[in-house]
Amino acid sequence: MKEQLEAIRAAAQAAIAEAPDAAALEALRVRFLGKKGEVTAILKQMGGLSAEERPVVGALANSVREEIDGGIRARAGQLAGAEESARLAKESIDVSLPGKDMALGGMHPLDKVLAELTDIFLGMGFDVATGPEVEYDKYNFEMLNMPKSHPSRDTQDTFYITENILLRTQTSPMQIRTMLAEKPPIRIICPGRVYRSDPADATHSPVFTQIEGLAVDKGITFTDLKGTLDLFFKQLYGPATKTRFRPHHFAYTEPSAEVDMSCFKCGGAGCPMCKGEGWIEMLGCGMVHPVVLQNCGIDPDIYSGFAFGVGLERITLMRYGIDDMRLLFENDLRFLRQFS
Ligand code: DAH
Repeated sequence: MKEQLEAIRAAAQAAIAEAPDAAALEALRVRFLGKKGEVTAILKQMGGLSAEERPVVGALANSVREEIDGGIRARAGQLAGAEESARLAKESIDVSLPGKDMALGGMHPLDKVLAELTDIFLGMGFDVATGPEVEYDKYNFEMLNMPKSHPSRDTQDTFYITENILLRTQTSPMQIRTMLAEKPPIRIICPGRVYRSDPADATHSPVFTQIEGLAVDKGITFTDLKGTLDLFFKQLYGPATKTRFRPHHFAYTEPSAEVDMSCFKCGGAGCPMCKGEGWIEMLGCGMVHPVVLQNCGIDPDIYSGFAFGVGLERITLMRYGIDDMRLLFENDLRFLRQFS
């Protein structure tokens, strides 16, 4: 029996030293120390030994069992350490490698100019309001003093959702929405997309952006309108900029005007930019029509106001010397990167 135990010890030592992984070690534990294992089998035969031999063989069997158990643990520790080192070696990163480039976005030129323009009006005490692009005919036309039969609707043909719901052709319905929701004093600008069924060309787009302005309070006069817009253009294009108001007609303002700005390129002498005129047409404006105030429950005998509407694309094209509006909508990165 002693020889058998010594043979088992030797075989176990050799097998443990060569076990390649945890599963192999577990198999060895079963083979030597398991219920039907080799060491266990010896222990079971000890009943047949003499009283002198039994403690000696018993002690040897125990020491063999402990040795095998310790050997398996030690080998397991070794294997785990090797595995860890291999994993660390595989995961190591070379901190001296160049970093990955992160593509940085930039602001769209339209947003840049809108931010600039918004800043100017915030500085004059205006708030910013926005509203839906899908609008009621009532707000887009009717309450702005343009009933269904009004001829000026012809120039603003749009996309109808139903007979009474359409894609807004202008930001002017925001005048109505604002005056229905708030009472004077009102000072807001409303930037937003508007729609018209115009084919796209260098100066037209079926989708474009307007900024509406509205001020309503006691005692507001045409001089307030003139002063506000004059200051606006001076801040946008420089202090030498002049403005010129030409009589015009809009159904929702009385009197109405179109505003020209002295050409920022030639200063008014005449050049290709202003087509030799010295002036560039910029926007429409006027004093809010009493009927419009009344439509919104504001008493025109107590309150008055001015309104204006300006196209953002036009201002942006001029600001950057861009000659085709379509460039603003095509999202060609070669174009857009020039502004970031
Ligand atoms: N809504 C006009 C347009 O789209 C622009 C406009 C003109 C707005 C006069 C106004 C205004 O508020 O008073 O052409």
